[in-house]
Amino acid sequence: MSVPVAGSPLFVVFGATGDLMGRKLLPVLHAIDTEGKIPGGLHVLGVARKPWADAAFCSFAEENLQREPRGDPSTLVAWCRDHLRYHQLDESTSSGWMALRDRILAVEREWGLDGNRVLYLALPSEAFPSVVEGLGKAGLAEGPGWTRLVIEKPFGTDLASAQALNATVHRHFEEKQVYRIDHYLGKETVQNLLVFRFANMFIESLWNQRFVEHVQITVAESLGVEGRAEYYDATGALRDMVQNHLTQLLTLIAMEVPPTFGDNAVRDEKVKVLRSIEPIQPSDVVFGQYGEGESGGKKVPAYRAEPGVASGSTTETFVALRLRVSNWRWHGVPFFLRTGKRMPAKSTRIVVTFRAPPISFFRSETIYERNPDRVTIILQPEEGFDLAFEIKVPGHANRTQTHKMHFRYAEVFGPVADAYETLLLDVLRGDQTLFVRADEVEESWRLFDPVLRSRGSVTVYPAGTLGPPSAAKLVEETGHEWSEE
Ligand code: BG6
Repeated sequence: MSVPVAGSPLFVVFGATGDLMGRKLLPVLHAIDTEGKIPGGLHVLGVARKPWADAAFCSFAEENLQREPRGDPSTLVAWCRDHLRYHQLDESTSSGWMALRDRILAVEREWGLDGNRVLYLALPSEAFPSVVEGLGKAGLAEGPGWTRLVIEKPFGTDLASAQALNATVHRHFEEKQVYRIDHYLGKETVQNLLVFRFANMFIESLWNQRFVEHVQITVAESLGVEGRAEYYDATGALRDMVQNHLTQLLTLIAMEVPPTFGDNAVRDEKVKVLRSIEPIQPSDVVFGQYGEGESGGKKVPAYRAEPGVASGSTTETFVALRLRVSNWRWHGVPFFLRTGKRMPAKSTRIVVTFRAPPISFFRSETIYERNPDRVTIILQPEEGFDLAFEIKVPGHANRTQTHKMHFRYAEVFGPVADAYETLLLDVLRGDQTLFVRADEVEESWRLFDPVLRSRGSVTVYPAGTLGPPSAAKLVEETGHEWSEE
């Protein structure tokens, strides 16, 4: 995974005046360049509709980079001047695309670059097909060096649209040029899942239906819709979080050991997990929407009262579901997934609960509590894991107590890299392991498309709570409960 980046690539960002560019991409691109992670340096061409000149784009970049704690602020003006250019694109005409091609060639000449290009679509998903067509027709799918296309999520809104988008992409680009981003795959703990599982014999040998009782994946957020109502109200939690982020976590938890750690070997195994999941029944899913309530000690409005949300909106802000992975390893082990906005706290974790011993020698009717061993993999708010296991309480022959072994990345290694930094470096190095392949995205939609179609009503839950009570029942019906620690 740490192949060096050859040459001096041009990073072309479509949607360069938007929020993702300002908040995430610019700080990461700046850090990659100034920290010397690419020997030949990194140059950026921002592309958007706004009639900006290079200077206006530089001011936008400076403003955003001032907020970035990394690097020396006194060098920002010079960095922007030397590394950033802007092009106003008229995407409605072929001459507009030709003008873009000419501009790319011009900046490559100006900076003496070698024709290796990243084309990054930081755009609303409706714009993906026409931009991919425009790039293809202008001959920009190929260049003098390598060309890589990066597509943000959501990739399609259902199976048919994902298939159509893949077909458009493949008309112009080969799959080995395509990087579908899911930022969860760039998180350190998510990548560590593979090491944790496959480099530790004691974990991997227990990681199956014989020893695991059930698996829970929770991605809880305390924030509400936060000014993204237009996107979110048309999207909902299933499309925004479950089809991509939670599904990625599930496949990494459940996959078999790949024959190598090459991009396709890992992704083949993830696809096999998706193909092994039984169709999800309506009775396996709970949809919720936050109502009025409290968050962070303040009163917050109901989702339907948020600015930009339709007053009678039935969009879900919470989903809980139960899955079965019907393969040799996981047969009979329930997987529970849930995600929601306006839950009590930001918390992303995977809890793998092991079966209790078949007979406990330490059982005494009055004091025994059934406390199965658990591995909790924590992605947020901090990254690390806990291992909960039983120990004997001194002085009590039969008494056991649960204790946790605890590991946090930051305590051992200091702050971890932003997921986008990991992912952008992988794009520049040409490593597709942490990106979603065409068949993977389609398999995931194949699973969730029927869920969207058979979607029942949403149950309102008060903001600041754990979602509708029916989400708790979904787990309790199988004799378990959600783990909240
Ligand atoms: C994004 C979703 O992909 O992920 C957001 O569109 C969500 O709605 C965000 O808030 C969560 O990401 P993270 O890394 O903060 O868990």
